[in-house]
Parts: sequence; C-alpha cells; structure tokens
Amino acid sequence: MSDTKRFAGKTALVTGAAGNIGLAVARRLAKEGSHVVLLDLDQAKLDDVAKGFAEHGVKVKTVVCDVTNYASVEEAVEYAEKTVGPIDFLFNNAGYQGAFAPVQDYPVEDFQRVVNIDLVGAFHVLRAVSRRMVERRSGSIVNTASMAGLQGPPNMAAYGSSKFGVVGLTQVASKDLAPHNIRVNGIAPALMGPGFMWDRQTELQAATNTQYFSTDPEKVKVEMVAGVPMRRLGDIEEIPGTVAFLLSEDSSYITGVTLPISGGIL
Ligand SMILES: NC(=O)c1ccc[n+]([C@@H]2O[C@H](COP(=O)([O-])OP(=O)(O)OC[C@H]3O[C@@H](n4cnc5c(N)ncnc54)[C@H](O)[C@@H]3O)[C@@H](O)[C@H]2O)c1
Repeated sequence: MSDTKRFAGKTALVTGAAGNIGLAVARRLAKEGSHVVLLDLDQAKLDDVAKGFAEHGVKVKTVVCDVTNYASVEEAVEYAEKTVGPIDFLFNNAGYQGAFAPVQDYPVEDFQRVVNIDLVGAFHVLRAVSRRMVERRSGSIVNTASMAGLQGPPNMAAYGSSKFGVVGLTQVASKDLAPHNIRVNGIAPALMGPGFMWDRQTELQAATNTQYFSTDPEKVKVEMVAGVPMRRLGDIEEIPGTVAFLLSEDSSYITGVTLPISGGIL
C-alpha cells in the first residue's frame, strides 16, 4: 500500500474492532492518519488490540457496547464524539455467524440472536451515527455483509437472511442519506482463511451431513475453494484496502453498492 494519509485528522468508529476484520481495518485507517474508536463487547480484548496502534500516532479510544442494545449504542457514539471527535467514517462490522443447520431444524433462539446482532445491531449503529453525520452533512459508511447475503448458502438461514438484510439496509440507507451528502456502501467477504473462522465454518458445514458438502471438514475445504474462480482463500489483509477505498474520497461517486471480496463469483 502507499504511504498516503488520506484520513489525516479524521475520526473512524469501527464495530467488532476486537475481531479479525474489524481490527485489520482499524489498523489500516489509523495507518492512513485517522483517529479510531474501537467498539466491541469485551474491555480486556479491546485493551489488548488497542496496544497495536501506538506506532500510528493517532488517538485511539475503546468502548464496550452491545450493538443489540440501542441505548448502549447511543452512549458509545456519544462517548466517541466527545472524547475523539465527530465521526467521519463508520465501519459497521460487528457480527456473529450462528449455528449451521437446515432451515427445518434451525434453532429458533439462535435465529433471533443472529438477526439481532447482524441486522438489528447494524441498523442501531447506522442510525445513531448517521443522525450526527446528517447534522454535519458529511460522512462515509461501510457495512459488513457477506457473500452469504448475496447468494444464500445452505444451512445458514439466520446468517444468510441477516446479511441479505444488511445488503438491503445499505441500499435503502444510501438513498435516505444521499441528500445529506453521506455515502453508504458495503463489503461482502467470503472464504477468508486459514484460521479459526475457516475451520469452524468447514467443521460445522461438514457436521450438517447435507448433500452439499462432504462430512469430512478437510474435504469441505477443498469443495468450497473449488467454487472460487481464483481457487484460493482470501486473506483478511485483502479486506482493509477495499474498505478504506469505499470510505475515502477515492470512491466519491459510489454509494449503495455491496462489493464482493470473494475471489470472484461462480
Ligand atoms: N471471516 C469471514 O470469513 C467473514 C466472511 C464474511 C463476512 N464476515 C463478517 O465480517 C464481520 C467481522 O467478522 P470477523 O471475521 O472479524 O469475526 P470475529 O468473530 O473475529 O469478529 C466479530 C466481532 O464482533 C463482535 N461482536 C459480536 N457481537 C457483538 C455485539 N452484540 N456487540 C458488539 N460487538 C459484537 C465480536 O466480539 C467480535 O470481536 C462480521 O460481520 C462477519 O459476519 C466474516
């Protein structure tokens, strides 16, 4: 990447910032000069990841917040703006994958939990931040969807539906906020690995014992990668550049788009 500081003096709020993708993106934004507010569920994890920002010379604040609770989101956004500055960029990324099971067996409580975190939570953060951006007539937002929100994989009723919802929310919000000079885009990553998420996903798909995948997780990995035109997994570090592009003025005439980061689409 270049050493440009596209975001010097700006402020970004990143949700799910103690997780893999949130942290990688927050680091990239800080590297490009943005102050960052890292939001997640767990203070100890946030403290741990915040240590990695010292070299960038930007302000870093952490805030514990459960995105499913609107009052908690409002408080966190208020805290971010008071302690760091008006939020210019939102990376709306907190998420949870949930169970793997065919729809007829999908656990009811887990469905509600996934929708609450991935869709309702994303709405909460989008609402609380965009109201403030509207007052300032400025801002750029990226929501994290998934290829599961564009294609609907088997055994992922809650996650797939929620992420389809995030794609829809991105389109609607882009229209609602365009008159206020605010852009809203999304990313749809898929098949990132290796690592815990990749292992978990392939193990759980194998355990569903459905016609789509083998019951051996190692074979599931091969089957999944065979569906990727580029025939390889994506690396988490292949995500931040796309998010930074969508947040930046380099994409100043792009809004309402959810960009697959998936090695192509078969
Ligand atoms: N890793 C992948 O392969 C992949 C693919 C497509 C989409 N995604 C999406 O990317 C986003 C980030 O995923 P990741 O891979 O970094 O996973 P991750 O589990 O490492 O990070 C997710 C983070 O969200 C946080 N979170 C969960 N529920 C929350 C809540 N209620 N309030 C606040 N924070 C909460 C978690 O604590 C965690 O730190 C998620 O939305 C996920 O659905 C990931």
